[in-house]
Amino acid sequence: MRLILLLSLSAVALAAELPLATECDETKCLLPRCRCSSTNVPGGLAPRDVPQFVSVTFDDAVNVINIETYREILYGRSNSNGCPAGATFYVSHEYTNYVLVNELYNRGYEVSLHSMTHQTPQTYWAEADYDVLVKELADQKRQMSHFALIPEQEIRGVRLPFLQMSGNASFQVMADSGLVYDNSWPTVSHVNPGLWPYTLDYASIQDCVVPPCPSASIPGPWVMPMISWSDLNGSPCSMADSCFFTPPLDDENAWYNFILTNFERHYRGNRAPFGFYIHEWYLAVNPAVKAAFVRFMNYVNNLNDAFMVNANQIIEWVQNPIPVSEYIRRPCRRFSSTPCRMTGCGPLRSEHNGLDYWMQVCNTCPRVYPWLGNPLGT
Ligand SMILES: *[C@@H]1O[C@H](CO)[C@@H](O)[C@H](O)[C@H]1NC(C)=O
Ligand SMILES: [Zn+2]
Repeated sequence: MRLILLLSLSAVALAAELPLATECDETKCLLPRCRCSSTNVPGGLAPRDVPQFVSVTFDDAVNVINIETYREILYGRSNSNGCPAGATFYVSHEYTNYVLVNELYNRGYEVSLHSMTHQTPQTYWAEADYDVLVKELADQKRQMSHFALIPEQEIRGVRLPFLQMSGNASFQVMADSGLVYDNSWPTVSHVNPGLWPYTLDYASIQDCVVPPCPSASIPGPWVMPMISWSDLNGSPCSMADSCFFTPPLDDENAWYNFILTNFERHYRGNRAPFGFYIHEWYLAVNPAVKAAFVRFMNYVNNLNDAFMVNANQIIEWVQNPIPVSEYIRRPCRRFSSTPCRMTGCGPLRSEHNGLDYWMQVCNTCPRVYPWLGNPLGT
């Protein structure tokens, strides 16, 4: 008879339970660090005094194909106040060309995180716990900074793959790793008036479209709600390329009007930031949609109270709201540029799937293809 000694080392992480968020108290939750979730205009401004922010974003890997579109439609654009027009890139690591990410950064666009792996199935993200998300997001921040030569503190935003929330976990990781805002959480019930960005110190009033959503009190990170568009049938879509009843894909005029109708809901409403969230491939395969989008940006760039900016500049305004008359006199955003000495690396063996990868980086080559748990590929 064998004596079996069961050493029951509890594998259950006895992580301290987070406090449940309670109803927001407007007298305690004050800018610049705290804001209740609400459709009220920050600073109590009248909508006509609010700069109408437009947030153009692109998701996924940056590569030699899609950079052509970014160069063609974004570079050289300015707002009516003379400042460069911004856009935000939610970049996933696999197949990303970091030399091109460096170019986007040095052109003044914002580089944010869209995870290291962007892996399927979607349930991976729904179930991702703190440790997984440290590897996917906090480690990706170090990785992006290292290979694209972007100062770590300039990387502030997160969009989770498939807009699949992970309850409290992604926000806990953000709070612990100095990430400033999340732009993954759609709302279909606070569209008009639109839900302004807010913090999670207190309970959110936002509808949970892709559960699980956070319910703990997590001071620090901001939620930048993805205010849905309405398609031609009145159904909500979180991203411009996920609308179902769209105008014909080859009809530029109809698309221009479609975009404008959605924009005007914000512009003539409470001026909550207007999101133009899209994937580059949708523009590449639909030239009429691309043309309509360019026309829309031209229109916005000529309005004297609307501004295409980096997502992070919206959060900064919400933290310190000032009327548009003052906003237009502010100096443009400044940042330090980081020239890239390009290196081509490969073949790099990948330890997770055995494939060979090639990378373009602004740093020394990694030993293996960087992946979960080894973000620098050492
Ligand atoms: C978030 O934290 C709260 C408070 O500890 C808890 O009640 C809730 O179940 C958590 N949600 C998820 C999805 O982890
Ligand atoms: Zn994606």
